[in-house]
This record gives sequence, C-alpha cells and structure tokens, in this order.
Amino acid sequence: MITKLITFIFFYSRLAAANNLYPKYHLSPDRGWMNDPNGFCFFNGVYHLFYQHNPYSSYGPGIVHWGHAVSTDFFHWKHLPVALNPDQWYDDGGVFSGSCLVDAGKMYLYYTGNVYHEGETPDHSQYQALATSDDGYNIVKYEMNPIINGSGFQPDLRDPKIWKHGDKYYMVLGNSFKGESNETLGRILLWESSDKINWEKASILLESDGRLGYMFECPDFFELDGHWVLLFSPQGVKPEGDKYKNLFQTGHIIGDFSYDTKTFTPLYDFQELDHGHDFYATQTTLDEDGSRVVIAWMDMWDQNYPEMDQGFAGQMTLARKLKLGKNGILLQKPVKDIDAARGRVLHSGVTRGGKVIKLVNNTAEILIRSSPLLNLDVFIESEGNQVQISYDHQKGTITLDRGGKDAVRRTNWRPLGKLTWRLYIDSSSIELFCGNGEVTFSSRFFPTGPVSIRLGRQSMIDNMTVRSMKQTVDISYPQPTAA
Ligand code: FRU
Repeated sequence: MITKLITFIFFYSRLAAANNLYPKYHLSPDRGWMNDPNGFCFFNGVYHLFYQHNPYSSYGPGIVHWGHAVSTDFFHWKHLPVALNPDQWYDDGGVFSGSCLVDAGKMYLYYTGNVYHEGETPDHSQYQALATSDDGYNIVKYEMNPIINGSGFQPDLRDPKIWKHGDKYYMVLGNSFKGESNETLGRILLWESSDKINWEKASILLESDGRLGYMFECPDFFELDGHWVLLFSPQGVKPEGDKYKNLFQTGHIIGDFSYDTKTFTPLYDFQELDHGHDFYATQTTLDEDGSRVVIAWMDMWDQNYPEMDQGFAGQMTLARKLKLGKNGILLQKPVKDIDAARGRVLHSGVTRGGKVIKLVNNTAEILIRSSPLLNLDVFIESEGNQVQISYDHQKGTITLDRGGKDAVRRTNWRPLGKLTWRLYIDSSSIELFCGNGEVTFSSRFFPTGPVSIRLGRQSMIDNMTVRSMKQTVDISYPQPTAA
C-alpha cells in the first residue's frame, strides 16, 4: 500500500514538473499577467525591464500596472515589486506602455495613462505621464502629470519612446487619425522637448495609407549601421499569403531621418521582424557595449493559452542584438551572455535521420550546421503535442507547424553557404534563428509531458549540438491566482 502511494506521488509530481509551462530562462511574471516590455534600459550597471502587468490575475490584463525585473546579463532575472500602479486620475484605466530615458544620472520613465469613460464615445482617452527614479528602485510619479494631454490627437495616443540628441529630447508616439473617407488609420508622431517635461509636436513620421491598418502601437525609432529603423506594431494589416498571419504584426521600415526637417524617408517597405505566432510590442535599448538590443512580448492578444490555469500568462523573447542586413532586413542574434544560461551538452556530432534526443527540463539550445541542398525536419515532441520545423530546399522555404488551429507559419529563406540554425526551447516556447539571424520564428507551444527532439527520416545533419539550459529566472513556479 505504502509503496503504491509513494509510486503514485512520485509519478504525479514528475508529471506536474514536466507539464510546468513556466519558463526556465525567459522572463515571465512571478504571478498573473504580462504583456509588452516597457522601460527597457541599462542604469547603474543593471538592466531594468518593466512590463505591462496584472499582478492579480493571469486571465487578462485587467487594469494594467508596470511589473519590474532586473538582470546583469539578460538571463538571471530577479523580480521586484510592482513599479507603477494605476492610482491617479490620469492613469486609473491602466498604466499603459512606455520607455525609459537615462539622463543626468536619473531614470525618466515615460508612460501612457489610460482613462476609461464608460458609456461614452470614444470610451477612453490617453495621456502621457512621467515618473522618475534616482536609484532605479524607488519610483515617483511627477506631481504635474500629465505632461502631454493630447487634445487633438485623442483617443489613441500612446506608448512613448524617448531619446536624446544634442541638447534636445525626442519622443515617438503611436496614434490613429481619420483618413479621407473617414476610415481610421495608424500613424507615428514625433514630439520634441528642451527640458524633458514640456513637449511639442514636431512632425508625422509615418502614416498608414490603409494597407498598414488602423493603429500603430509601440513605436521605436533609432539609428543603426548608418540608417534609421522605425520599429512598430501595426493593428489591422490584412493577411497576404504567408505574411501578416498573426492577429497583430510587429515589423520595421528602414529609412533615413533628418533632424533639420524632422522627416523620415523610407528606403524599403514594411517587413515583419519575426515569422512565428508570438512576437509583439517590441522595445529596444542600448546594452553596456552600445549595441542595440531588442526584446518582444512572446505571446499574442486573444490567445488564452493554457498557462493561464497555472497562474501566469505571457513571457518575453530572448534579448537579441540587432544589425542592419541587406534589403531592409534586420539581423537578430541572441545576446552574447547566452553563455550564462547554457547547461551541459546532451549530444554532439553527425546526426542521422530518425535520431531522438530526450531533453532535460524541457529546455535546449540546438545548433545545427548542414548541407543547404538537403531538406531538414526537426520535430519537437511530447506525448500529445508535436511541433515540426522544416526547411524545403527546392522551394527555399522554412515552415513551423505547431499543430492545432492556425498551425502553420512559413517564409522564404535560402541559406548563404551552409544551412545554420540556432533553436532555443524553453518550457513552452520555441525560438529559431536562421543563418545570420535574417529569419527568426518565435512561437509558443504547450507540451503535455517530457519533450524530445527527433530528426525526420530523410534528414541528415553534418553537425548538431544539443545542450540543456539552466534555470536562470528567480522562481521555479508562479503563485496561483484567482480566475
Ligand atoms: C500593445 C498595447 C499598447 C498599450 C498596452 C496596454 O500590446 O496595446 O499599445 O500601451 O498594450 O496594455
């Protein structure tokens, strides 16, 4: 009887551990809900990442707060108390997204205060507000908030991203406006200030002509390798073949910018930054070496993923270093500190079709180097769940199929020289970096037990290294929260 009981407890505790969807090396809230990254910055030797957060429930954003975590390497994240609460007349409908300017030894956190007007049209307005911190931990809202009341630009005016150039400060803001036939269209506004507090509208950086939808969220604007990158998340872009298949998109336009005329001149069309199911609301910062690093919410609105029942929802992608590639493409690579999260080698060398490798803790880094003239199929499997990632060398396509409804994401890709992939698996996420990072896929998946990887029968890999990944986040399991 006793033996049976022990076996029973052991079996179910193993099963629970294996089914734990909480990430081991990606940042997730310690409880409740997470969406966009906010206030991403390097301050006094530490990376701060704030995020849209509901600490009371994992079933939706509710009235959002700013969560807060810190790290010195983008992997060992430590959770801190909620940084900004929705407790003022100008933000009591949510402390919406924003960014951090580090200036004169202080943190300046700019965010959008959302206010609901129940039963009215429009039913909300959005103000820009400021909070400051001397040490990165004690954060105080500015007494004279809001700093931009936005009349003439309501009701959707949000997600300020700030930078300094010379002795001036600049802010991009997401906005919508009415087009010629009264349709709602997205645009990005540029604002300017001499003192960080008083702001004036300087120009319109970009407007949708309808093809890019009705609202641009989370704009970011920065110089990279001799050009300018306008990175944003348009809502309402219609699917077109393999493109724009998520509910909302995140992508960029490469162009040039003049501080004199305040105009942005696109050189290329809009391109999606990632081709997976779950990549939204990006934000960038400069790392301690001065490289541009991007992070995104690895989730998507309206998905109701099963982790909600485990007391948390949402996680961030890996931090990725950005470089400008050819033809308006951005190259993304995991930051170099990924070494800090690498565990032991589980497999290495020439690998034949059919090979199965059991992962440890449902985590892995998989490095593949192979012939560009062969098809490649990698399966990521647990008893009741399968994700297939395939390279088709005749068509020059790469496909991620996670099964279930809306399973497939695909894009064109041909390796330059050898085929190289870097694949990161965490408890409920997959990130694939192809070649020099010119194509990436970020998708959530929900294994139902211990995960293995299997190489398709026809595949043959010159060199494959599989490592486990360490647990680098500071809790092993979130606290359950109310529905
Ligand atoms: C993007 C977004 C932002 C907004 C925030 C609210 O996902 O809709 O535009 O500030 O989320 O949580």
